[in-house]
Amino acid sequence: MKLEDILVRQQEAVTAATAAADLASLEAVRIQNLGRNGLIQDIMAALKTAEPAQKREFGQRANEFKNAVQAAVDARRDILQAEAEAAASAFDTSLPGSWRGLGSRHPVTQIIERATEIFQAIGFSVASGPDIEDVFHNFDALNTDPGHPSRDAKDTFYLDDGRLLRTHTSPVQIRVMENRQPPVRIIAPGRCYRRDTTDATHSANFHQVEGLYVDRKVSLADLKGDLTYFARQMMGPDVKIRFRPHFFPFTEPSVEYDFSCHVCGGKGCRVCKHSGWIEISGAGMVDPQVFKAVGYDPNEVTGYAFGMGVERIAMILLGIPDIRLLYENDVRFLRQF
Ligand code: PHE
Repeated sequence: MKLEDILVRQQEAVTAATAAADLASLEAVRIQNLGRNGLIQDIMAALKTAEPAQKREFGQRANEFKNAVQAAVDARRDILQAEAEAAASAFDTSLPGSWRGLGSRHPVTQIIERATEIFQAIGFSVASGPDIEDVFHNFDALNTDPGHPSRDAKDTFYLDDGRLLRTHTSPVQIRVMENRQPPVRIIAPGRCYRRDTTDATHSANFHQVEGLYVDRKVSLADLKGDLTYFARQMMGPDVKIRFRPHFFPFTEPSVEYDFSCHVCGGKGCRVCKHSGWIEISGAGMVDPQVFKAVGYDPNEVTGYAFGMGVERIAMILLGIPDIRLLYENDVRFLRQF
């Protein structure tokens, strides 16, 4: 190593240190120049053999080399460390945000809420009753014969104390009329229980919306008109409604009612099983025996009552093929609504 070379090497080393891209390559630069086998050792060796006249200057250059390279390495290390810390704590606005799943209302809840709005708009208020009912409210007061098959333990869930899980929302009619004088105009959404074997269209628990309107001179025409209004609000403006004669112990006359299929407009399709109609539930004029059971005078008032299957409406309106999907709570399914 010659005296003139030292400054050149020094500049190279300083340049390399200043350009080091990360701490590892900076350390490599340091070792290469100042390490135990580094350039500095060559310089020191050359110093020993230098001519006496050059020794002093040689020594100064060697010192400068050491100090300048060390200073460059230190300065670069400070910068690289500061950069690493800043990167670790930086807020990177280009990263995708963390997504919090936004919940949605269950389809059954959506239908109940919509049905409630529709009936509230024509003066109905919301009533409710207990899921665990007594035999009186679920059957007796609803004029259900002691031998009626629906009372059977293979159709109804009985508790040890003789009470039961209500099989329909009709007992809420009784509870409301026991506590209020006519006129009465309520709907009662709620859960019902039956000992049904679960399949694509049956579930041991399901929901109904009960309706009850009692006043002077309420007629079957009112029932049909109000259900038609409901059907159009719920399913679409062209939906028609049809009554078929039926029997319920607590209404006389009784009907089952269908909505014209909102998918095909009544022409017949897969959804309505090619009949053009979709069965919704039962309804009728409140039986005088029911009025007597709650202390209303059947000569003074008349009334209509209806029930509707919430899952049924959810399935046909939202295109859900299997009732069990509504109870599995698979979020991939629920998120679609
Ligand atoms: N409670 C009846 C059922 O569950 C439906 C219904 C309600 C019928 C009101 C007539 C009047 O099937």
